[in-house]
Amino acid sequence: MLIGYSTHQAKIALDKDNLVAIPTETVYGLAANALHTKAIAKVFSAKNRPTFDPLIVHIKHFNELTKYANASPKILKLAKHFWPGPLTILADKKSIIPELVTAGHGKVALRVPNHSLTLELLNLLDYPLVAPSANPFGYVSPTTAAHVFANLREKVDYILDGGDALIGLESTIVSEQNNQIVIHRLGGLSIAEISDFLKETPVLKIQNNSNPEAPGMLDKHYSPTCKLNLYHPGVRPKRSDALIWFGQGIPFGFKNVFNLSANSNLDESAANLFSYLRKLDELNFAVAYICKLPDVGIGMAINDRISRALAD
Ligand code: TXA
Ligand code: MG
Repeated sequence: MLIGYSTHQAKIALDKDNLVAIPTETVYGLAANALHTKAIAKVFSAKNRPTFDPLIVHIKHFNELTKYANASPKILKLAKHFWPGPLTILADKKSIIPELVTAGHGKVALRVPNHSLTLELLNLLDYPLVAPSANPFGYVSPTTAAHVFANLREKVDYILDGGDALIGLESTIVSEQNNQIVIHRLGGLSIAEISDFLKETPVLKIQNNSNPEAPGMLDKHYSPTCKLNLYHPGVRPKRSDALIWFGQGIPFGFKNVFNLSANSNLDESAANLFSYLRKLDELNFAVAYICKLPDVGIGMAINDRISRALAD
């Protein structure tokens, strides 16, 4: 395993059907050649991910979309406007995409990530990359190269270090159904940004049960090992408990406080959330509390991740 800044080294590993961790603006991905079943299978096994949970295909440019899928005009309009960026579209897959990528579904998930190193890498390759978040299945997604190293070590050939993920939450996943834009996962692109651009309100179909078609949307996900509880004013903390807070007015009695954003900034909170959840485990807290954030803009996606991290 190597860690560095060389897209050339990353290409050498990928060309051999090995795994490379790539930086994106959302979270780090665990990448492999999206057209080679052998390489894709390694991704599932390194993450311990069930093969019925499909993968997102990362492409270098909007112009490449039609090589891999047929998308409706409205989905094309969205992709053209928001790519590169934290938007994943579901579109009818073409046969060049292996069934293993989509877990047998007729639609493939596609996105152009917005990170200069990863775009440079994609431009060196003549194939796209599958890349789920580079964490063990069910655990907190990585937002730094060190997070990937801590979790995957020998399972990955090369970690392309692109610094801290700017957004810190996964992409927003959309499709079109009956002429309407449907949001399947809340993420780095807010609903408001989509509706402002399209001048229509998308429909929310966020999976909230324990046996969904897309297991990435399981009730329990993004979970630290530490026992996480929702903070409420009745809590009487022990000295050893931790608190993940947002803004001013830190409740009395907590000795170990991690503030997502002291001045109540939602973007800053998104960027900090996953590394703070990991900190709970890195620092061996047994019990921690977390509060919910204002449910607006990217706050909705943050609250979605907090709910799943809290679920039993
Ligand atoms: O921001 C992101 O999207 C990151 C970075 C690395 O690009 N990737 C990511 O991948 O979050 P992953 O595998 O952790 O989450 C992908 C989600 C899963 O919930 C999966 O079930 C869903 O997308 N998904 C992928 N392909 C799909 C498909 N064809 N149909 C329905 N859902 C799909
Ligand atoms: Mg994931």
